[in-house]
Amino acid sequence: MQDLYLPIKNLHMSLAMLSLAGFAIRAWWAINSSTLLQQRWVKITPHIVDTLLLTSAVLLMIILGQHPGNQNWILAKVIALVFYIGFGTLAIKRAPSKAGKILFLILAITTFSYIIGVAIAHHPASWLQLI
Ligand code: HEM
Repeated sequence: MQDLYLPIKNLHMSLAMLSLAGFAIRAWWAINSSTLLQQRWVKITPHIVDTLLLTSAVLLMIILGQHPGNQNWILAKVIALVFYIGFGTLAIKRAPSKAGKILFLILAITTFSYIIGVAIAHHPASWLQLI
C-alpha cells in the first residue's frame, strides 16, 4: 500500500484541480445564465470527480494513519470542504442575483485556496503558516 502513496497523492491533487476547473466553468455558465449548464454530462461529471477526490483522500488517510481525529489540519480541510460545497451550491444554483453568484464564486475559490494551503502546510493556518 505504501508504494501507492505517491501515485494516489498525485491523483488526489489532479482531481482537486479538475474539481476546481469544473466548478469555475459551471459557475461562469450560471452567472451568464447559459443553457450549457443543463446538459446531462455537466450535471453528472462533478459527482464522479468529487467521489474519486474523496476516495483518494480516504486512501491517503489510511496509508498515512492520519485522520480528522488525530490531525487538526485534516479536520480543518473537512470543515472547509463543507463551506466550499455550500458556497459552490450558492454560486451555481441558489443565489438569486448575478452579483450574489459572483460573490459566492469568489468565496468558494478563496475557500478552495485555503484548503490547498492547509494541505501543503499541514496546518489549519494554511498559507499564513508558510510565510
Ligand atoms: C476533506 C477531504 C480531504 C481530505 C480528508 C484530504 C486529505 C489529504 C491527505 C491525507 C493528504 C496527504 C498529505 C501528505 O502527503 O502528507 C492530502 C494531500 C493534498 N490534498 Fe487533500 N484532502 C481532502 C480534500 C482536498 C481538497 C478539496 C483539495 C483541494 C482544494 C486538496 C488538496 C490537497 C493537496 C494539494 C495535497 C498535497 C499536499 C502536499 O503534500 O504538498 N485536498 N489530502
